[in-house]
Amino acid sequence: MEHLNAEKIKTLLDDSRFSKNIIIHKNISSTNNHAKELACKGGEEGTVILAEEQTAGRGRMDRLWLSPPCKNILVSLLLKPSIHIERIFSLTLALALSITEAIKKMTGLSAMIKWPNDIYMNNKKLGGILTEFRIKGSEPEYVILGLGLNVNWCPEKEMDILFPSTSILNEYGEELSRNDLIALILSGFEKIYIEILKGNVEKFNKRCNELSMVSGKDISVATQGEIIKGRALGIDEDGALLVRGQDGVVQKVLNGDASLRI
Ligand code: BTN
Repeated sequence: MEHLNAEKIKTLLDDSRFSKNIIIHKNISSTNNHAKELACKGGEEGTVILAEEQTAGRGRMDRLWLSPPCKNILVSLLLKPSIHIERIFSLTLALALSITEAIKKMTGLSAMIKWPNDIYMNNKKLGGILTEFRIKGSEPEYVILGLGLNVNWCPEKEMDILFPSTSILNEYGEELSRNDLIALILSGFEKIYIEILKGNVEKFNKRCNELSMVSGKDISVATQGEIIKGRALGIDEDGALLVRGQDGVVQKVLNGDASLRI
């Protein structure tokens, strides 16, 4: 079994903002918690925090994130982007997109993006991103992208999980090197991130829509205040979902839990 190896990831990444500070924990409560602590103490943009195991891994909506030691990717990226706050969720999608592209390169398999933060393969959940941030004025002070990706293990039905899950091992039939996969994800993400910082989001947005599981489908989205039902028209350049309601009015939904209506 291959352990996470910061030197290997650095070598694969070469000259990248993500190769400067790579921290690997054997066991930690949550990589997102550690990233937040670092961010508050002036941690550097591009810091990558990985763990072999988390004792309190968190998903969205206060859900648990399960993963046994040394099997999967559990990582948080600390970013300090100079972008408008409305654009923050496009970073989640940029990471989701770079995950699907890295998996395609390593295995030839196609994963899809389930807006706003999930990676799916064959209608089963392969991974999720927990995006947390603090705002200062009209820009984020920091953004943390926390990724849990089922590489060589996934939870079983009887583990009381909400969504059917899968792993790359289940779908591909072979274990993958997590070090190789992380490096590929980070280098792909960096390219998109640079374009987002420059405001060049058109191409990236088109690729997200091509891989979106919900675009064009009848959905309901649970937001903090309400449940929005309608046809998902697509993801816009801020990473928001455009939903045409039954009254014909198009709403821009920045974040929520989307489910397909059959
Ligand atoms: C979700 O699907 O709801 C998002 C899951 C995010 C899990 C990852 S694992 C690494 C990072 N640390 C955490 O505590 N959560 C994220």
